[in-house]
Amino acid sequence: MDFKQVKENEEKAVLKNKNVVDSDFWRQKYHIQGIVGLINDPNGFSQFNGEYHMFYQWNPLSTEHKNKTWAHSKSHDLLHWERCETALRPDTWYSKNGVYSGSGIVIDGKLYLFYTGNVKDAEGNRESYQCIAVSEDGEHFDRWEPSIVNQPDGYTRHIRDPKIWEKDGKYYAVLGIQSEKLEGKVVLYSSENIKNWKFEGEIAGANHGKLKDFGFMWECPDYFQLKDEKTGKIIDLLVASPQGLEPQGDLYNNKYQTGYFFGKLDYEKPEFEIRSEFVEIDRGHDFYAPQSMEDNKGRRIVVGWMGVPEDEDFPTVKNEWIHCLTLPRKLKVRDGKLYQEPISEMVSIRGEKIEFEGFVKGEKEIGKGKTYELIVKFSDISSDFGLKLRVGKNSETVVKFDFEDKKLVLDRSCGAQADKSVRKVFLGDRKDLELRIFVDNSSIEVFVNNGEEVFSSRIFPLENADKIIVFAENETKVKLEKWEWQ
Ligand code: FRU
Repeated sequence: MDFKQVKENEEKAVLKNKNVVDSDFWRQKYHIQGIVGLINDPNGFSQFNGEYHMFYQWNPLSTEHKNKTWAHSKSHDLLHWERCETALRPDTWYSKNGVYSGSGIVIDGKLYLFYTGNVKDAEGNRESYQCIAVSEDGEHFDRWEPSIVNQPDGYTRHIRDPKIWEKDGKYYAVLGIQSEKLEGKVVLYSSENIKNWKFEGEIAGANHGKLKDFGFMWECPDYFQLKDEKTGKIIDLLVASPQGLEPQGDLYNNKYQTGYFFGKLDYEKPEFEIRSEFVEIDRGHDFYAPQSMEDNKGRRIVVGWMGVPEDEDFPTVKNEWIHCLTLPRKLKVRDGKLYQEPISEMVSIRGEKIEFEGFVKGEKEIGKGKTYELIVKFSDISSDFGLKLRVGKNSETVVKFDFEDKKLVLDRSCGAQADKSVRKVFLGDRKDLELRIFVDNSSIEVFVNNGEEVFSSRIFPLENADKIIVFAENETKVKLEKWEWQ
């Protein structure tokens, strides 16, 4: 293939499909999405010259997982994004079958991207190259020849998704990898100069340390530290997206999972000593391969792909696009527990407000809306209760507290999506419950009790479905505020 055509083909596909994409009423208002085609993982999430930069896996040519580029958008507030020129295309020998996921770091006023070049030969055999690209202006990237060409001994060619950070003047990266025994793992590399990388060792994975069988591949690892807001203790987190976990009750019901371990990274051994269970970060249907960054306000912000590989039967495909990223969230640890909070910028897009305060028994319509924020507090709980959103003919998304099981349930089965399964999380005994919910044209994100749990799911309501209904079996006290998004 002539590499010059790669950019031309992208431009042609955008021209050809943009109108049909733009005509789709499921296009999102405040979520990053591709202008056409397919997007998946967030990449290179960083802050450079006073702006947030988000890159993301993008196939401009079709809605399949092929031809991956790094699309690029930038923003002052993490909500209004301006699209930039595509940062990296599969137009080098070492990335000809896809510029796969990776991360970004700012060093001495330059933005460095560290990514995986995916190459396949005629028989479909894979090669993976870990590569650097650098930019002085945050728009144009110089690509260097691969930094890591071979995988370490004992592993397959499935090595990818470098997440880079700096510590004491040295650079480190975690990568997802597969062992020759087909176990998913995370390995650590280090570099003195960002160009030459040294294999340090395997730090976590399936059949590593305490962890028994735990998937055949771990994708998109992330490592960072958070300070416990109550105890002041520094806690290390390892986030990963393992593939191959079996469902267990309410857990692991998506095709592939994303979760975290608390623990401690020992750089010398090297080893990530696991000190917790694997906890799924998100309880919804569509969350995978998140990436975090610390911004200049000291916030650890995370964005995920609002999708899951191989579970992508979405009705937008007929309009030549699929997928989006989640809203950004802030992570914090309090008293040994991880919380995810909507970023404070969310209030800046609040428009017209409606309120309701009173007792509800049965169903009560509160108002209407398609793209909005809603905060609702339920108290004096003694039965099932909840909300029905985007309600209309053949459409409703239900967020319900199941009183007997003490679980919060997200049911998106009534709508245009193929998957009809529900997602649940156990909350335990509650006297009251607070939900903060963000509804966009084709998604819902539910933050439970200040971010103890989050559900992120794509929803596909029919066009005019916009009613907001509160329901409760027994009389329940409800206080609700809803802001239409500006
Ligand atoms: C995760 C992933 C990554 C890979 C990228 C390719 O969704 O499979 O491991 O780098 O997507 O698009």
